[in-house]
Amino acid sequence: STYKVGYFVGSLSSTSINRILSKALIGVAPKELELTEIPIRDLPLYSADYDGNYPPEANALKEAIGRSDAILFITPEYNRSIPGGLKNAIDWASRPWGQNSFDHIPAAVIGASIGSIGTAVAQQSLRGVLSFVNARQMTAPEAYIHYTPEMFADTGEVLIESTAEFLAAFMNEFRDHITRVLTVLPRT
Ligand code: FNR
Repeated sequence: STYKVGYFVGSLSSTSINRILSKALIGVAPKELELTEIPIRDLPLYSADYDGNYPPEANALKEAIGRSDAILFITPEYNRSIPGGLKNAIDWASRPWGQNSFDHIPAAVIGASIGSIGTAVAQQSLRGVLSFVNARQMTAPEAYIHYTPEMFADTGEVLIESTAEFLAAFMNEFRDHITRVLTVLPRT
């Protein structure tokens, strides 16, 4: 089957290497995955005061996740964790209480940094959050991308063959993970 994958880019930077990575992943993804970005930029900062009356940006976020069969997180590492903007989006989507948009959703995590450990610590932090919101995470393969300017063209074309193969294998595994999760029990 074909799966709708909503993806989050954790960076708001206009020159984000993680946005370049998102384009690269779209380029190498198997034909069964249809990738659509879920924007996080215009969300206000979450507060429980909104729980009875979500603003349009937050409703749009929850609807976009609701339309998705699976979620892909493509994130930088900020101070050994995930950027605040991404955490804010996850907090919005996890609420109001009892209406957690991530419940049982198949999910995967990937990220690029200019540091040599390639967002490993941020991803570990994100995985803790995703566990709590009850997402069905792909735990292997892991993908820590140590970004170098030679790796991608700005359009997202992958210039290093071994990197292209690795990213394609990651997306194939994600497709298989989604199939496993949704075959056992489809989301309603
Ligand atoms: C960083 N950077 C960074 N890199 C890393 O590997 N580990 C880290 O903890 C941090 N911390 C950090 C904090 C803040 C506030 C910034 C702005 C940057 C560097 C980071 O990898 C680099 O800026 C990437 O380009 C960020 O990804 P995007 O925004 O280009 O996708």
